[in-house]
Amino acid sequence: MSDTLSGLEEAFDDIQALVGTGFTRLRRGHYLLLQVDDAARVRCWLAGLLAQGLVHALDAVRRPHVAGQAAAPAEGQKTRLTESVTVAFSHAGLSALGLADAEANPFPSAFRGGMAEPVRRELLDGDAVSPWRWGDVDTEAVHLLVAHFWADEATPSRHLDPALLADWGLRAHVVATCPASIDPPTQPEPGSREPFGFRDGLSQPVPEGIAWSQAEIRARRQAGKALFDDRRVALGEFVLGHANEYREAAYCPGLAWASAPSRPFARFGRNGSYMAVRQIAQHVDVLRAFEATCPVPDIAERMMGRRRDGRSLAALGGSQTGLDGFRYLQDDADGFGCPRGAHVRRANPRDALSGSPQEGVASARLHRLLRRGRVYAEAGATESTCEIGQGQGLMFIALNADLDRQFEFIQRSWIGGPRFGGLHDEEDPILGTAPGRGFTVQGLPVGLRIGGLPRFTTVVGGGYFFLPGLAALAFIAAGPPSSA
Ligand code: HEM
Repeated sequence: MSDTLSGLEEAFDDIQALVGTGFTRLRRGHYLLLQVDDAARVRCWLAGLLAQGLVHALDAVRRPHVAGQAAAPAEGQKTRLTESVTVAFSHAGLSALGLADAEANPFPSAFRGGMAEPVRRELLDGDAVSPWRWGDVDTEAVHLLVAHFWADEATPSRHLDPALLADWGLRAHVVATCPASIDPPTQPEPGSREPFGFRDGLSQPVPEGIAWSQAEIRARRQAGKALFDDRRVALGEFVLGHANEYREAAYCPGLAWASAPSRPFARFGRNGSYMAVRQIAQHVDVLRAFEATCPVPDIAERMMGRRRDGRSLAALGGSQTGLDGFRYLQDDADGFGCPRGAHVRRANPRDALSGSPQEGVASARLHRLLRRGRVYAEAGATESTCEIGQGQGLMFIALNADLDRQFEFIQRSWIGGPRFGGLHDEEDPILGTAPGRGFTVQGLPVGLRIGGLPRFTTVVGGGYFFLPGLAALAFIAAGPPSSA
């Protein structure tokens, strides 16, 4: 199944812009975790948000590209926005608004069950008991996740003022973001730095059908065609209804108003995506103390798998191919540069897990994520006091079309897999939770195994949210047939 240009152009008017950008030029912002008290008023609020044009489509930030139909991919970034809003719903949220799964094509069970479901938490983290501040299941479930970002010079819309949301039938829990973690927008490509001090957002898949950005064009020049092609992934791995890596249209769930189940909106899911969201507190002091006492030099960088400035440990000794142009089997098969259990190597093993680089890259392509998270500030921090390394963490947000095969597989089998890549009884050194866990730094003549790693991160909340296309958002805002 392939997308034609006119099909793609239509989709670009519909897909939410977050698929194409992390909005790093909009440094200010917050996440609103919302609960629905009054469904009818919330639908009016949503209609108002759409009428204000604050929820942008992909078309506002990137151009479509169909292979073979244009001479060369054009620059992908289009306009400079000063404010943008992303709206997504948990399954509990869709129910709270009066919607029910279409019988013929319901939502997949991972989304219906929710990330905070105890069995799933056990499966994902081996930990279903520590209390979370928020989740996507039970009576206290978060119903809507709204990501609201604006430029330094902009005044954010009052329609999203947390103090006024109660008037719209919404209860809001606000998670502030930390502008200090993002480069000033005067830089050609603002990057970000997470609280442990590492550059983040460097390695991303390049979805087919979206014209390359300036940064991607430059990356291709630096890395060369073959390594850049490793990053290219079918659009249907991130956007429902489009061809995925199996050349099948990614499954689209349907919905109906619970009051009118015989008239479902079967294409509700088209152009949507799933967000796996985890609020992860980072224990910066613990990492600093560990670095100060651990006899292995640069231990934090070895556990992450990159230098703090972003350079890959795998590529350091060999090819210098830009920040995302390297392979492990080819450049560092033994892990002497980037330890085999390092965070980035577990999160995307690239070519490392198969007999040949080509096979490895092809199978890793089935488990890619578009990362769109940001650093959050702890409650009480103001934008001027929010600084890197102070009591905060990452609001990890990953977009994918198949929660099971992408986010959950990575979290369970790669991040948490005790035997990942031939290792024994280890887990991700940065994200792992098992008490006294170990980490091996491979080396000659023998490697070194460090035991008793403390806990550097704690997940404090999380959920699965559905990021609908704009047509599906309009369907929700219009309400059931009787009140339309
Ligand atoms: C507090 C938690 C986390 C921190 C501090 C963190 C930090 C980082 C850093 C510094 C990088 C390298 C920069 C880059 O390639 O963009 C990275 C890459 C990555 N992380 Fe994380 N991360 C966290 C949680 C997670 C989680 C929960 C997942 C998935 C379940 C994940 C998946 C990835 C992926 C897929 C990459 C790209 C790897 C590659 O393609 O080479 N991260 N992370």
